[in-house]
Amino acid sequence: MDKIVIEGGNRLVGEVAVSGAKNAVLPLMAAALLTSDWTTITNVPKLRDIDTFKKLLVHLGAEIAPDTPDGTLKIRTRDVAAPEAPYDMVKTMRASVLVLGPLVSRFKRARVSLPGGCAIGARPIDLHIKGLRQMGAEITIESGYVEVRAERLKGAKIYMDTATVTGTENLMLAAVHADGTTILENSALEPEVVCLADTLNRMGAHIVGAGTDTIRIEGVTELRPVEVRVIPDRIEAGTFMVASAMTRGNVFIKDCPYHYLDALNTKLKETGTEVTEEDGGVRVIGDWPIRSVDVKTIPYPGFPTDMQAQIMAMMAIGSGLSVITETVFENRFMHVSELQRMGANITVDGRCAVVRGVKRLSGAPLMATDLRASASLILAGLVAEGKTEVSRIYHLDRGYERIETKLKALGANIERVKE
Ligand code: EPZ
Repeated sequence: MDKIVIEGGNRLVGEVAVSGAKNAVLPLMAAALLTSDWTTITNVPKLRDIDTFKKLLVHLGAEIAPDTPDGTLKIRTRDVAAPEAPYDMVKTMRASVLVLGPLVSRFKRARVSLPGGCAIGARPIDLHIKGLRQMGAEITIESGYVEVRAERLKGAKIYMDTATVTGTENLMLAAVHADGTTILENSALEPEVVCLADTLNRMGAHIVGAGTDTIRIEGVTELRPVEVRVIPDRIEAGTFMVASAMTRGNVFIKDCPYHYLDALNTKLKETGTEVTEEDGGVRVIGDWPIRSVDVKTIPYPGFPTDMQAQIMAMMAIGSGLSVITETVFENRFMHVSELQRMGANITVDGRCAVVRGVKRLSGAPLMATDLRASASLILAGLVAEGKTEVSRIYHLDRGYERIETKLKALGANIERVKE
């Protein structure tokens, strides 16, 4: 296994290009199940989660063209041998449940393992299942699998109790072939949802309202394959923005639409960080002292839960006291104990973490626990005194393409070494 070793203290200066968004690619790969010819997705980052999803699609019977250096992914699903997503695949990546909607929509049946919990919370899929049931699917849950059958799904009016990103995407993927109109109420507003809806419309679907809390999908009979370029990864961009802010850097983040990150932009400005839109990207200039601010994560367009661990690393060296509230997941403070080992002064009480800024963090051997927690440990290592070693960085590789290479190019003293 690899680990990342950082000597802290360097300012980050320069320009970094953001890769394609992992959380946009995954639903697009699921959408490739809806048509029998080649679907082409470009600007695809090289990430573990995408490799995992490829394995699942091949297991289902899809053909995947060999990788290309420029990140072009071609998928064709002429038929599926058995529409089943097994536990050993789903347990490694919850987003595997995204095959449920397209499989039952095109092949009239699906058998997908329930994802089970993960490091950051229980993360059930009850809303995915409830929506499919409302569309007339026959659903049985046994021995940890959900079996879904439907000759043809029927359009329905579905209210989702929680704004669920993959729930919205799964039901959209199910509804495109349904008989009649489906209305998803309280749907997720994320740009990744919009990217999926735009792509499905280019395939011949009739979807309106993506990006709002009410999405209307009229079922169609045929969908044709398309070529689609994936939107930039706003969470990777946000991670580099915080890295520049924390290290008193001056970094230009290319190809990242400023408006994807409004909540983060606002928060960073409150800390005294300079955040400006420039040539289709964002320039972030940091300085000390970093003003401590309170942060509350809420669904898009609010402050992203996927940026909570990163902003906490920044508040760990803030000038005062910061209250960070995590409202989306019930256990997304796994990074706290590792940050405390670096000297951070953080107290957790339920969904709130109280962070009292300290002058300096000190480097330490650390262990990553989940994708965004690992990013926060890397960020803390960039500013800590001395050496920081982060192990189990396979968590990091799920969602960041060569982060150490990109940070090194900005001036960080960082290496990936064999453990
Ligand atoms: C998506 O996960 C993202 N993953 C997550 O990114 C992200 O953290 C999350 O949305 C929130 O923004 C992908 O898009 C592949 P949810 P998802 O369903 O869809 C509850 C990363 O770091 N819920 O929006 O699984 C759930 O428990 C990952 O890239 C139900 O109760 O999240 C959670 O508390 C981590 N029942 C809340 O909704 C359901 O049926 C939001 O979850 C579904 C969800």
